[in-house]
Amino acid sequence: MDRPTLILRVMLMAWLSGAATVSAQTAAQDAPHAFTISPGYRFTEKSGGALYNATCAGCHMPDGKGAQGAGHYPALADNPAVGAAPYVIINVLRGRKAMPSFGDEMNDDQVAAVVNYTRTHFGNRFAGDVTPSQVKDLR
Ligand code: HEC
Repeated sequence: MDRPTLILRVMLMAWLSGAATVSAQTAAQDAPHAFTISPGYRFTEKSGGALYNATCAGCHMPDGKGAQGAGHYPALADNPAVGAAPYVIINVLRGRKAMPSFGDEMNDDQVAAVVNYTRTHFGNRFAGDVTPSQVKDLR
């Protein structure tokens, strides 16, 4: 291949890969949630506290008090909705409006652990441990 042809080929390949990136970005913008975790990602943390800090804390804050600003992130502290264990499990599995889903990124043990942590920290004292099999049934 002569040099000008090679340069043209390299430019064409660069242009094509740029076009692919743009269409991937457009697809991401069309996704139902503004924030999506990279597909195929799996959380490796096992304890409820570690999972909470790695995921939920970014929006609901480390103290569970939530945040108000560019968006509204409800408090998980002093929130009667957190008392309803299945509701919390379903939120984590499927997401809710601006909250992303974690069902594909966490296994049943991890979901149970982070839900139990949420229900027993930040001043929350909700009784009744969530079990992995409860999570499985709600998937
Ligand atoms: C990207 C930000 C974000 C992350 C990360 C996130 N949430 Fe949320 N969460 C939200 C938003 C926003 C809402 C409110 C959704 C709505 O409009 O109803 C919400 C709602 C909730 C609710 C319902 C509260 C209520 O009063 O009805 C629970 C429970 C909850 N989140 C728990 C969690 C847990 C547990 C995690 C971690 C596994 C988590 N969230 C991670 C943004 C987030």
